[in-house]
Amino acid sequence: MTSSLGYVEPLLFLKRTQFIITSKMETSAVEFEGKTYNKITEGQATVLIPSENEVFYNPIQQFNRDMSIAAIRTWQKINADELQNNEKLKRKALKGFESSSSKGIKILEALAASGLRSLRYVKEIDNIDYILANDLSEEAVESISRNSKYNGIPEGKLRANQGDALDVLYSNRKPENQFDIIDIDPYGSAAPFIDASVQAVKSGGLLCVTCTDMAVLASNNHPETCFAKYGGVSVRSEFCHELALRLLLNAIQTSATRYQRHIVPMMSCSIDFYIRVFVRVYDSPVGAKDSIVNTGIVLNCNGCSSFKYQALGTKTCNKNNFKYHSATGPNLNSVCEICSSKLTVAGPCWISSIHNTSFAKQMYELVSESENKFFTKKRMMGMIKVIEEELEIPFHYTLSALCSAVKSGCPPIIKICSAILNAGYKVSSAHSCQCSIKTDAPTNIIWDIIRAHVNSVGKSKKIEENSISCKILSVESSTAVDFTIRKEANPESRKCKLVRYQVNPEKFWGPKSRHKTVKRKANMADLDRPQLFEKVRASPISRKEAVHQLEVFLSSSAAQTVPSGITTQLTKISKAFTESN
Ligand SMILES: C[S@@+](CC[C@H](N)C(=O)[O-])C[C@H]1O[C@@H](n2cnc3c(N)ncnc32)[C@H](O)[C@@H]1O
Ligand SMILES: [Zn+2]
Repeated sequence: MTSSLGYVEPLLFLKRTQFIITSKMETSAVEFEGKTYNKITEGQATVLIPSENEVFYNPIQQFNRDMSIAAIRTWQKINADELQNNEKLKRKALKGFESSSSKGIKILEALAASGLRSLRYVKEIDNIDYILANDLSEEAVESISRNSKYNGIPEGKLRANQGDALDVLYSNRKPENQFDIIDIDPYGSAAPFIDASVQAVKSGGLLCVTCTDMAVLASNNHPETCFAKYGGVSVRSEFCHELALRLLLNAIQTSATRYQRHIVPMMSCSIDFYIRVFVRVYDSPVGAKDSIVNTGIVLNCNGCSSFKYQALGTKTCNKNNFKYHSATGPNLNSVCEICSSKLTVAGPCWISSIHNTSFAKQMYELVSESENKFFTKKRMMGMIKVIEEELEIPFHYTLSALCSAVKSGCPPIIKICSAILNAGYKVSSAHSCQCSIKTDAPTNIIWDIIRAHVNSVGKSKKIEENSISCKILSVESSTAVDFTIRKEANPESRKCKLVRYQVNPEKFWGPKSRHKTVKRKANMADLDRPQLFEKVRASPISRKEAVHQLEVFLSSSAAQTVPSGITTQLTKISKAFTESN
């Protein structure tokens, strides 16, 4: 029986889905080996999902899968070029110790669920030796085998394995067993899998890691959990999503250095409700030493959103000899030098480059030249271009926070960016935040520019004495600010009208809960926002589920559209529930 439903909205998890970029997905009911399944096609793969939804499948993650395919193919090209030009690497690769051997690359998807991602890798990436698709769940492993068969994958190319990801990773630490690519895509935090992953990837190989626990990684709410999981503390700030990436990178780095390995981030993406990093790992005791300069703490002002960061150490070079020193300081005041408000400490976190510009350029070319390969191509091109343009400088301001600190309306961002360029500094956007301003200009220059903007449009009458706005505006500016518009202040990605920032395709866009073998009782994400508070209390679903849904909402960009009083209330509820559990 094949009753094609044609193009319908994916109903597996979402009550109402309007994909802006991912559009609609082809689904139909199909019978295979005597059972009825929902058939879902994504990219070049088709998966059969049991109609009662035994195995996790999240259609929203198509962008993640598309980006991963493009990143792995870009890595393959770069890696092949490196091997071509380096005889030592070539010899090691032939022995299978260095990425990649003549037989093709070995990929491990350690938490593979339905197997869709692995299937897409097999079909959409060339020169693969084999993929090991592992999952703890029996249903998931059955699904991987079934889908491999249904897609006609040759024997041995896609190997389904039931096991704990940690066992698989730890048992493949020997150089001859290591994988070229390891993909870690769990529910929530990837923290438990980091130590094992950095050991099971070949030198020069690529580690692809997703974390969806943004309530921990990108807020003030759970500093103790964030520290326990990632070895660093987050802070609610304009740059909290970039900080989440930097905390994860630092966690990967600290694990790698224990084994005299070091990391080089190729691309670090903040996407919707989660983060995804693509990191190369190398054997290098010397590289591991650089971790002291790659790591730092950050202080964020609670009043005006200014920030400072400082490395934990410095490195000097004398006649090709490197020497490392402890940092002096901190060269920071106990209160903000701009508005005298309290500063919150975050980190330690990764403070070096989170992307590799050459990698981003090559990935952009690959995606733009691919004809109909990626369903989310438009969004991919927008994000990769903004990443390529992003300055290699930690953290950023936002136009709205700068202007709201002085109670002023926002001017066109190009005006402020031009003033920064005219003052002799660099400026770019950050892919992780719309209307962000990333710059090497010192904080006092930024505030001189904002003061000059306020002078040009007139001061708000609402500014009270001794307020933060009053303090900022009462300072004498030391910079002659020039607002003459500069062409370079308008980046290529904006000129080309690429999809630079994705708007949430639907209300409560977010990660889905773990798969259930029984029907879910209720889905908080389906509720209208005003009903949320009452439903959390009265809901028949478990407290844990309610708190999870609440945290998902609070960490999503949808939360930014709600008056801050409401989000503060919801945060309190979430915290109270967590503490009482
Ligand atoms: C988010 S899903 C993976 C989605 C998949 N990567 C994709 O793109 O379609 C997480 C999966 O991890 C599995 N899992 C959870 N803990 C695990 C563990 N310790 N070892 C292996 N698999 C695990 C779950 O059964 C679930 O199928
Ligand atoms: Zn301040």
